[in-house]
Amino acid sequence: MDNIKIPKHLAIIMDGNGRWAKKRLLPRAMGHSAGAKNVETICEAAWNMGIKYLTVYAFSTENWKRSEDEVSTLMKLLKQYMDGCIEKSRKNNMRVRVIGDISKLSPEMQASIRRLEDYSKDFDGLQFTVALNYGGRDEIIRSVKKMAEKVKAGEIEADEITEEMLSEGLDTWELPDPDLLVRTSGELRISNFMLWQLAYTEFYFTDVYWPDFDEEELRKAVDYYGNRDRRYGGRNS
Ligand code: FPP
Repeated sequence: MDNIKIPKHLAIIMDGNGRWAKKRLLPRAMGHSAGAKNVETICEAAWNMGIKYLTVYAFSTENWKRSEDEVSTLMKLLKQYMDGCIEKSRKNNMRVRVIGDISKLSPEMQASIRRLEDYSKDFDGLQFTVALNYGGRDEIIRSVKKMAEKVKAGEIEADEITEEMLSEGLDTWELPDPDLLVRTSGELRISNFMLWQLAYTEFYFTDVYWPDFDEEELRKAVDYYGNRDRRYGGRNS
């Protein structure tokens, strides 16, 4: 056992499903299903390493711009995942939350999400969050609108607005900010993911495609975080 510092909250931008499939001369859809399968592997590995919160970027507000065919493949896969996740949450004592504007998703998808969130709400193992129709700017705007309504109703003064109030209006209000962000497949961007919450987060980028990001790769990311922390004295310092 090493005593390397483990991130409490890990956030992941799961990128490279398409390139993973292309490299194998497979359709993109196969890349996405391999990616979905890998989510399970990483949930388990993260929990075994002592990570308490895991948040993954599954579908962004920008992903609607992909071909109709690809959007429908991803939605089908995500719906299947939500339905199958009931059993996984029970088996692993895992609580599942969804962040993002789910009001724009199909009624069936919304029902699956509510069922899963409600079913798993008392489980205190891995706190797993799926970002679905999620955009960081959109989330901040929705929080700002809630505060504007309060000002309009005379409940608060505009100059009483604090960072805490904005945070409490975000979809992540129950979660601590991420300690570590991982992005796979070589892109060095945050692509509108958790813009507010990532203010003090350490970033780890790897060229590995998401379906190939296994337990060993996760260990490398966690080791990187542990070493950063040791060298620089940790966040906020
Ligand atoms: C990026 O790969 C990945 C996505 C747009 C979607 C992520 C979705 C999954 C991993 C599957 C479902 C998720 C869950 C939680 C079950 P890309 O298509 O952008 O790859 P590319 O950049 O190589 O084309």
